[in-house]
Amino acid sequence: MKEAQPRTIFLKDYQKPPFLIDETVLHFDLNEQGATVKSRLSVRRNPEAELTTSDLTLDGVDLELVSIAIDGVALSEGQYAVTEEGLKVIGVADTFLLECETLIKPQEITCLEGLYKSSSMFCTQCEAEGFRRITYYLDRPDVMSRFTTTITADKTLYPVLLSNGNEVERGDLESGRHFVRWEDPFRKPCYLFALVAGDLLNIDDQYVTASGRKVSLRMFVEPQNKDKCEHALSSLKASMKWDEDVYGREYDLDIFMIVAVDDFNMGAMENKGLNIFNSSCVLAKPDTATDSTYQRIEAIVAHEYFHNWSGNRVTCRDWFQLSLKEGFTVFRDAEFSADMNSRTVKRIEDVNLLRTAQFAEDSGPMSHPVRPSSFIEISNFYTLTIYEKGAEVVGMIHRLLGEELFRKGSDLYFERHDGQAVTTDDFVQAMQDASGKDLTQFKRWYDIAGTPVIDVDYQYDEQAQLFTLTLSQSCPSTEGDADEKPFHIPFTFALLDSNGCNIPLIQNDDAVFANAPTELVLDFVETEQTFKFQHIEKEPVPSLLRGFSAPVKVKNTFSRDQLLFLMMNETDGFNRWDAGQRLSADIIQSIAEDYMHGRALNVDARLVNAYRGLLVSKSIDKALLSKMLMLPTESYLIELADEANIEAIHHARNLVRDTLAEKLKIELLRCYQENTDVGAAYSADFNSIARRSLKNSALNILLSAGDSDALVLAEKQFVSATNMTDESAALIALVNSDFVSQRESALNTFYAKWKADPQVVEQWLSIQCTSAKSGTLEAVKRLMTHEAFDIKNPNKVRSVIGAFCNHNLINFHNLSGEGYQFLADNVIKLNKLNPQIASRLVTPLTRGKKFNQERQALMQAQLHRILSEENLSKDVYEVVSKSIK
Ligand code: PHE
Ligand code: ZN
Repeated sequence: MKEAQPRTIFLKDYQKPPFLIDETVLHFDLNEQGATVKSRLSVRRNPEAELTTSDLTLDGVDLELVSIAIDGVALSEGQYAVTEEGLKVIGVADTFLLECETLIKPQEITCLEGLYKSSSMFCTQCEAEGFRRITYYLDRPDVMSRFTTTITADKTLYPVLLSNGNEVERGDLESGRHFVRWEDPFRKPCYLFALVAGDLLNIDDQYVTASGRKVSLRMFVEPQNKDKCEHALSSLKASMKWDEDVYGREYDLDIFMIVAVDDFNMGAMENKGLNIFNSSCVLAKPDTATDSTYQRIEAIVAHEYFHNWSGNRVTCRDWFQLSLKEGFTVFRDAEFSADMNSRTVKRIEDVNLLRTAQFAEDSGPMSHPVRPSSFIEISNFYTLTIYEKGAEVVGMIHRLLGEELFRKGSDLYFERHDGQAVTTDDFVQAMQDASGKDLTQFKRWYDIAGTPVIDVDYQYDEQAQLFTLTLSQSCPSTEGDADEKPFHIPFTFALLDSNGCNIPLIQNDDAVFANAPTELVLDFVETEQTFKFQHIEKEPVPSLLRGFSAPVKVKNTFSRDQLLFLMMNETDGFNRWDAGQRLSADIIQSIAEDYMHGRALNVDARLVNAYRGLLVSKSIDKALLSKMLMLPTESYLIELADEANIEAIHHARNLVRDTLAEKLKIELLRCYQENTDVGAAYSADFNSIARRSLKNSALNILLSAGDSDALVLAEKQFVSATNMTDESAALIALVNSDFVSQRESALNTFYAKWKADPQVVEQWLSIQCTSAKSGTLEAVKRLMTHEAFDIKNPNKVRSVIGAFCNHNLINFHNLSGEGYQFLADNVIKLNKLNPQIASRLVTPLTRGKKFNQERQALMQAQLHRILSEENLSKDVYEVVSKSIK
C-alpha cells in the first residue's frame, strides 16, 4: 500500500504560536562520532494566542532524545511523547524552564540541513526548517528568542568555534578540548541560528559606521583559500556604506563574520552576524574566478548583508511571507549592483532571467503567487517568483512612489516593525501610510500567479496633432474568472521623434509646454485604458514599458523597421537592447519556420547591417554593446514559442550567428583587437568587464562558425591569459568549435592545471556539459565517474547534471528520450541523499508544455517513474505530483 500523501499547509490556517521562548541557551559537544546538544528554553504561554492548549508541541526530526526535564525535574514516561515530527510535553504550566539533551549525527547528514559536516568542518543550515534537526524547538519564524551558545570541541581539530553575536568567554578543557561561548543580544527566530567549527584561517578587516562605531569584519576560510577573500571583503564594505547612504541603515553588532563552505545547497545564508556562504559565491582571485563570478559575489555578499535589516531585524511572520525578506532584499541588492556597475546592464541581466526562467515557472505546474497560499514543502518555494518577481513588485512600488517617498516608506517600515515578524501586507501598508498613495489595487501583485499580458494599440492623428495610446491587460491565470480584476501596472512611456529625441508629453491642454516631462510612469489600472498626448507635430515612435517597468509580456507591435530604428536610436538603454532582442528573435523565428517547412533559409540582411552599425559605432556605450552582441538564448526563444521545435530553433540561431561571423569578420576581428589589453592588471570594474565580454563574444561568434583566424587567436589567448575570464572564454570557444583535437588538448591542459581548485573544476565540468556537440550525454555520463565528480556535493551536481539539462537544450531534448531518462535516474538517486537538490533538479522535466506531444509523453513517462519510487521525499513528491497530467 502507498503511504499517506504529504500534508498541504495553508496560509489561511495560520495561528499565532501558543507558546513563546524568551531565552534559548544551547550547549554543543562536537565529537567525531556525533554531537550532543543540550538546550535550556525559557518557555511561556503566549497571551495573544488564539488557541490555548495544555500541551507543548515542539518540532524535531532525526533526533535521539537523551533526557528531558522541566524546572529541574526529569520527566517520566507518560509526561511526554516522541513522534516522527517532534515531541509533545503533556500538561505544562504557564511559565517553565525546559531542558533537553539530544544526540545527533552530523557526519551522516547528506541533505545539508541542520548541523552537518562539510570537508573537515562542522557547519549549520537552519532556514527554513533545519533547526528542528538540531534540537526540539518551536521551529517557526514568529517565535523569536535571545540565544546563548556554548561550543566545545577538540582544540587541534577545531581551533575556531563560531556562533551568532559576540564572543563572551573562552577557555581550555580537559583532554585537549576547548570551549567558546557566544551571546546574541538580538532576538531572532531559530532559522537565523548558526554554528561553525573548524581549522580555519581568518582574514580581518574593519569598517567604521556612519555614527563612528568600529565593526570588525572577519572572513573564515580553509587555509588554501587565504588569497581568495579580498573581493568579498571589499564588496562587504561597499554594501555597508551603501545601506547607510541609501536606506540610513547601520550595522548593529561589533563583529560581522563570513564563512566559506564547500557543501551548501544554496548560494549563501544571512545568519545573524555569521553569514555562511557556498564557496563558489564568495571566493575569488583573478586567475581563478571569471568576471561573472566577481559580480555574483558582489551581489550575494550585499544581499546577505542587507538581510540584516530586511530579514533579521524585521523578519517574516510565517513562510508564506518569504518574499517579504527575499523580494525586498533582491530589490536592494539589484539597486546596489546597479550603483556599483552599469545600471542598464544590470537591468538587462535581471530581466533576461525573469523573462526566461521566472516566466516559465509562472506558466508551469509549480506556478504560485509572490505570496503563496499553500505548500507541501517550503524548500520548494525558494523560487524565481519569490525572489525575482518579488523584487519586481517592490521595484514597482519604488517606481510608483518615487525615490523620496519610497525611502519614507522604508524608514517607516523599519521603525514600525523593528524586532517583529510581519507580513507582506505590513510592508505595503507602511509604503502606503508614508506616501499617501493608495496601494489597495496594487496588492493584487502579491496574490495572483501568472504573467499579465499587455496589448498595445496606438494611433496618430496628424490633423489634431494627437497621439492616442490604448493599453489593455489580461492575466492567463485568471482569464475568464468572475472576479478577474486588473493589476495596477506602472507603465513607463515616452515618444521619440525621427531623430530619436524624446518629445514632451502633454496630457491636458493647460500644461505648460516647457515643463512637460519627456518620460511618464502611466498608472495603468483599468482592464482597458486610453492615454492621449497633445501637440505631437509629427508621427512619433512610441517607447513602451521603458526599463521594463513591470513584470509583464508586451505583445510585439513593432515592424522590423521600427525595431531597427529603436535599436539604433532608443534613448532608454534597456529598451534599446530589447529592440535588438526582439528583432533577432523575430528573424530567428521565421528562419525556424522555414526550416520546419523545408524552405530555403536566409538571414534578413537588415540584421547584419544593424550589427555592423553597432560594431562600428563610436558612440555606443561598451557595456550596452557587450549585451547587444549576444543573440537571444535558446531558452528565451523556447519561452517565446507556443510550441517550440528545439532543432529548428537551434539550427536557426546558429545560422544567424554563422552569418554574422561570415559577413562581419573584419568588424569582429577589429572588435577583438581593440578590446584586448596586453599586460594590463586585472580589474573587475564594469568597463573592463564590458571590454573583455565584447572581445570574447567576438571570438566566440567567429570560432563557432569555424573561422581559422579565430582558432589561432583562441589558442593564443588560452595559453597566455592572465585571468580566468579570458582563459575560460578561450576554452569555451574551443570546446564549441569543430576543431576536435585542439579542443581535447585544451580541456586536458586546463584540468591538469586546475584540478586542485574546486571552483575552477566546476567551470571545467560545466563547459563540457553545455557543449552543443552531439554525443555530449555520453561525455556527461563519463564525467560522473571522473575523480572530479561527487554526487554529494551540490555544486558538482549543478555543474554537471544541472548544466546539461538546463543549458544544453539540443542534447537534453534529444528525441531518443535519453536525456529525460538520465535526469530521472539522477533525481531518484538524489531523492535519498539530498531532497532539496533532487527537487530543484527535476524542473526541466516539468516544462513539457512548450514541446510537442511526443516529447511531452516522454517527459511524463519519466515523471511517473519518479513518482512510483518508494520513500519519495516531500520535496520531490510536491514538484512531480503537481507536474503530472
Ligand atoms: N535566505 C538565503 C538567501 O536568500 C537563501 C537560503 C535559503 C539559503 C534556504 C539556505 C537555505 O539569502
Ligand atoms: Zn535572501
